[in-house]
Amino acid sequence: MSPSVSVDTHLPPGWADGAMRDDITRAFTMTPKVLPPMWLYDDRGSELFDRITRLPEYYPTEAERSILAARSGEIARRTGATTVVELGSGTSDKTRTLLDAFRATGQLRRFVPFDVSEATLIEAADRLAKRYDGLEIKAVVGDFTRHLPHLPAGPDRLVAFLGGTIGNFYAEERRAFLGAVADSLESGEWLLLGIDLMKPVGRILDAYNDRAKVTDAFIKNVLAVVNAAFDADFDLECFDYVPFWDGREERVDMRLRTDEPQTTRLRALDLEVEFAAGEEIRVEISTKFRPERLAAELADVGLGVDQLWTDDRADFGLLLARKF
Ligand code: SAH
Ligand code: TRP
Repeated sequence: MSPSVSVDTHLPPGWADGAMRDDITRAFTMTPKVLPPMWLYDDRGSELFDRITRLPEYYPTEAERSILAARSGEIARRTGATTVVELGSGTSDKTRTLLDAFRATGQLRRFVPFDVSEATLIEAADRLAKRYDGLEIKAVVGDFTRHLPHLPAGPDRLVAFLGGTIGNFYAEERRAFLGAVADSLESGEWLLLGIDLMKPVGRILDAYNDRAKVTDAFIKNVLAVVNAAFDADFDLECFDYVPFWDGREERVDMRLRTDEPQTTRLRALDLEVEFAAGEEIRVEISTKFRPERLAAELADVGLGVDQLWTDDRADFGLLLARKF
């Protein structure tokens, strides 16, 4: 690893310890069965997600990249931030556009990528260390729903949360998350939030149901993760990926359904899970936003919207907010 990179780990080694055991036990004993999405991102899941970002149907990545290309200089000047924190950073691929602009003004001192997927995070941190000579990179391996209090202290931080990942929380979780982000900021510090915007439903559903079936493999991989971590015997062939549009909540709902009744054993948890015919596991949602509503949610936790930029087609939004 490059000498300018340090890694701070808040997760126990391996996926099957501590809080994870509790999460999975709860997920499979509640009705309906609802999985926490961070389980999608083991090494293979991260690789599949990276492929999703390059699919022709998956518009959010290029839309967000185009906003960053147009606005990063302005973001650097408006915020004056010297530390960029990136939550759910993954490969930090698009983030280079942002960091380039912060370098150009000479203001960037430190980059803090934060992700649950350790291998992807460290690889990304190393790549960035080579690109940005002298930049201090403090990588954090953790769960952003639990470990935000461990972020490196300010002042002058910009916390970026890109990719529309905010849409993967249920409403109550989103509120708790935004509250925790606000609590971790000092007055005057900044949040940069990527949001996928409401639009005609056909294009949204295509983005989560690609012809090459990469999304299908990504969602099903969560069962392979559970099999490996808990010595379980999910048969991936028995589950179908079923995405649908929930018009009331304005979100894509991604589930796995079994047509046959079955019993699965999670040996490491000493747990037997029953599935009825047609029963579903709720794996992930992806909420699409109306900016005014989100601005109200941000205000509720003490974050004021400073700017909202969109791409040419108004597919995706980049929202800059400031802690009051
Ligand atoms: N920011 C990237 C990746 C988005 S995918 C982009 O815009 O393309 C979501 C990322 O969040 C993945 O890298 C995943 O590993 C990470 N992630 C998901 N749940 C997490 C959690 N609870 N804590 C920390 N990281 C999480
Ligand atoms: N944040 C991404 C999104 O909501 C995550 C994502 C992309 C995703 N494609 C997916 C999650 C497919 C589940 C299934 O767009």
